[in-house]
This record gives sequence, structure tokens and C-alpha cells, in this order.
Amino acid sequence: MEPAVSVTILLLFLPLLFLLIYRRSFKRIPPGSLGIPIIGQSLGLLRAMKANTGEEWFRERVRKYGPISKLNLFGTSTVFLHGPAANKFIYTCSEKLLANKQPASIRRIMGEKNLLELSGDDHKRVRAALVSFLKPETLKLYVGRIDEEIRLHLHNHWYGNNEIKVMPVMKTLTFNVICSLLFGIERGPRRDTLVKLFENAMEGVLSVPINLPFTTFNRSLKAREKIKSIIMDLIHEKRKKLEISGISSNEDLIMSLLSMKDQSSDSPVLSDEEIVDNIVVVMIAGHDTTSVLLTFLIKLLAEDQTVYKYVLKEQEEISKGKALEELLSWDDLAKMKYTWKVATESLRMNPPVLFTFRTVLQDIEYGEYIIPKGWQVIWASCMTHMDENIYPEPSKFDPSRLESQATKPPPYSFMAFGGGPRMCPGYEFVRIETLTMIHNLVNAFTWKLSLKDNIFGRNPMPVFNQGLPIQIELKKSSAEM
Ligand code: HEM
Ligand SMILES: *[C@@H]1O[C@H](CO)[C@@H](O)[C@H](O)[C@H]1NC(C)=O
Repeated sequence: MEPAVSVTILLLFLPLLFLLIYRRSFKRIPPGSLGIPIIGQSLGLLRAMKANTGEEWFRERVRKYGPISKLNLFGTSTVFLHGPAANKFIYTCSEKLLANKQPASIRRIMGEKNLLELSGDDHKRVRAALVSFLKPETLKLYVGRIDEEIRLHLHNHWYGNNEIKVMPVMKTLTFNVICSLLFGIERGPRRDTLVKLFENAMEGVLSVPINLPFTTFNRSLKAREKIKSIIMDLIHEKRKKLEISGISSNEDLIMSLLSMKDQSSDSPVLSDEEIVDNIVVVMIAGHDTTSVLLTFLIKLLAEDQTVYKYVLKEQEEISKGKALEELLSWDDLAKMKYTWKVATESLRMNPPVLFTFRTVLQDIEYGEYIIPKGWQVIWASCMTHMDENIYPEPSKFDPSRLESQATKPPPYSFMAFGGGPRMCPGYEFVRIETLTMIHNLVNAFTWKLSLKDNIFGRNPMPVFNQGLPIQIELKKSSAEM
């Protein structure tokens, strides 16, 4: 071909080529603005969450741009998706397209090897190790131990008091339960140090990841380093104990992870680094979430006398069949069907986890848009909880909506525990802890809210500004044990 001809052909095709590339890389990227570099819209979202208008903030986006839009959050270009169809898409999407990589702030604080970061075989292996401890067959053996921990908690923090602040006290409770059950850390200075460190670590989980002295992120990273060294010490102690006894143990989660050996090679299933990172993630995923649920439950039971009476009746029925100090059993929990509906309705109205992230590994075509490789996806799956087409009168606390088949929510619309292969593996643990606590509480105490208005914001979990103070009274029938 003559050079002149090829140049002409090239020139003719160039605009077409350009148009194609342009269409693919610009035209179909979702609407919205990326804001200023690094910071983007992070501060706007964090501010809205603090004021408990996070959902409203997302809803405003949906009004402005529709169910898909772009923005920049926590240092990364992001696509926001909304609605049950989006929930389904994300929870059923192949890991080759959407990976569970979290924003840098979360990844650095929880560790590179934590379950939220892993994919494929690594995710399967580590998740299976955690689930072998968190599954009902194992956890049912610990119902008594959780009950004991809760009774001890009531003695230390409720008996003898007239007023308590629910939120901080519930945090103490769920932290103690996790410490005892999952980590076998005794009460004492080591637990107290850990409480403080985890608080610091949590504060930076959603922050702009700038690692300079005096930034929130920096303080969280420092806390993480200290937590890591405490857990490493625990691992060494427990490994020694296991070596001396020579038998595997399910005494607590660390012991159980250390005991797991690959059958063919006899090497440990999890490395020490994986154990540390996953202990951290279970601690963070497991204690704040459950304390939020318990706090809202106590509030809702104080506000709704009808629901309270039904719960009380169910729990008294269970106590009747038991000796005075007899601990609860797995079978008792199975009878607490109404109480669990109340908890579920509370999770619908006040989901502890507002949104979640994934990272895009390959360009994804979504409707008429492209979600580009290297970006992250964020979705607030629980916004379906307040959709009046799915839940009529969504602001009404109504556990009976979960009773009839007709008003049961369709798939991918109750999202408090996520969905698909990443669904929360702590579900059973939450159920045991919540039901056991409510059982002990309604049997021993009555309570009233001290304040008319109890304002809360998110950081990123809901936090009551005043801690939700309540006035409590010991029931006459319940002499202190
Ligand atoms: C009311 C309490 C809880 C709520 C609302 C909750 C909610 C969630 C949600 C929404 C996810 C999925 C996140 C995603 O899609 O990326 C999740 C994952 C997870 N949760 Fe929970 N959770 C709770 C309690 C717990 C407890 C008690 C534990 C452990 C003892 C736990 C351990 C985990 C872990 C390890 C994951 C990661 C699973 C994976 O990526 O495969 N959670 N949780
Ligand atoms: C916190 O910031 C200081 C100063 O930039 C830095 O030397 C230190 O490594 C940071 N801490 C962590 C844990 O990254």
C-alpha cells in the first residue's frame, strides 16, 4: 500500500477510533463529580453520618443522579449503587470482577490478611476456619458460658444502680463476651488495655488515609501495632499450652485456629499473621455491631409497651421451666422466636452497618454504564429497609410485619447481615448473645428512658450523643442472686 493511502485511511479512521475509545472510557462512566483529589466527598459523607443523615446524604445523590453515580471516597474513585437490584448484583457478582478489597484506611487498620481482604481459595480457607468455631454446632456448647458472662455483667454494672448509660455499658458487655469466648483473655489489665486500643483503632477505620502525626489515621495505626503485639503474645502463650497438652482445643477461637492442621501436610491452616488479622477483624466486626443492636433494642422496648409485654411473656414462659440459677440452653433460645423477630425489626430500622465496599478488578458493564477497573463500589444496602414499596410505613416499629408470609420482605431487601458468600458469619453468635441478654434483662429489671430525645450519629457505627441513659428498677420477684 502507498504510504499516502495508509495515512489517509488512518486519518479517516482516527475520529472513529477516538469516538469508540471516548465512548468506552468517558461517555458511559456514571454521572456525578469526583470532587477534589484524595479528599473527594469523604468529609461530606462523614459529616452527614455524624449528624445521622448518612442515608439522607445517599438519598440526595439518588435524587440528583439516579441509582448509579460516581464520587470519590476515602482516597479512591468510587461508584455508588442503589436498590434491591444493585444489592443482588453485588452479592452475586463474580469475585473476578468485584473483589473484597477495602479502602486503604480499613485495610491498614484491620490488616492485609483479614477476611474482608481475602478472595478465592484464601477467603474460603480462612472463612471455613472461622466458621468452624462460629457455626451453631460449636456455638451451642457455649450458650451457658455466654449466659454466665452476661449475669456477671448485670451484677457488675446494673444491680445496685438507678441509672445507667446503655450504649457504653453494652459495649463493655459485648467486648467482654468476645474477649472471653473468642480470645480467652481474662478480665484484668490486659482486657482494659485492649478496650482502649480497639476504640482508637475503630476511629480511623473510615478516615482519609493520611499518615501524619496527629491524624486520626495515624493514631489508629499506632493502636493497631499495639493490638498486634498483644495478640502475638497470646498466640505464643496458647501455642505453648497446646504443645504441653498435646491435644487440640476449642477452648476459644485462638486455640481453635492454632489447633487446625492441614491433613496432608500437618502444617497449620492459618499463619500467625492470618490469625492476628482475623482476630482483629472478628473483634471489630463482632462487638460494636452487637452492642448497637442491644442498645436500640433496649430503647425500642422502653418505647413500645405492647411489644415489651409480648417479649416479657415469652421470656417468663421460658424461666418457668427452669430452676432459679439454671443457665440457658440452646433449646431455650429456639423458643425465643418472638424476641428474635423484635431484634430483626430493630436491625431493619437501625442497621449497625450502613454501607460496604468492593473493588473493581475489571471494567464492569452495568446497564448503560461502565464501572471502571481500579475503582471501588460502595452501596448502602440497608437503604432498602426504609423503602415504602418493600416495607409499608417503614418508620413504624412493627415486628409483626415479619410474621405473615404476605408481608415478608423479598430477597435482597433485608440486608443487615449482607448476603451471598460474604454474608456475616457471626449471625448465630449475635442471636445467642442478644437473646440471652434480653432474657436476663426483662426477667430482672424494668427500665425507662431518662431523656425524651436521644440523638445519635454514626462513626461509622451509630453512637448516641448522651449514651442513652435509662432509669432502672430491680423487679421485686428478682432477688439479687
Ligand atoms: C448485629 C451484629 C452484626 C451485624 C449487623 C453484622 C453485619 C455484617 C455485614 C453487613 C457483613 C457483610 C459485609 C460485606 O458485605 O462486605 C458482615 C461480615 C462479617 N461479619 Fe458481621 N455483623 C454482626 C456481628 C458479627 C459478629 C458477632 C461477628 C463475629 C463473631 C461477625 C463477623 C463478621 C465477619 C468475619 C465478616 C466478614 C465475612 C466475609 O467477608 O466473608 N459479625 N457482618
Ligand atoms: C505516624 O506518623 C509518624 C510521623 O509521620 C510516623 O513516623 C509514624 O510511622 C506513623 N505511625 C504509624 C503507625 O504509621
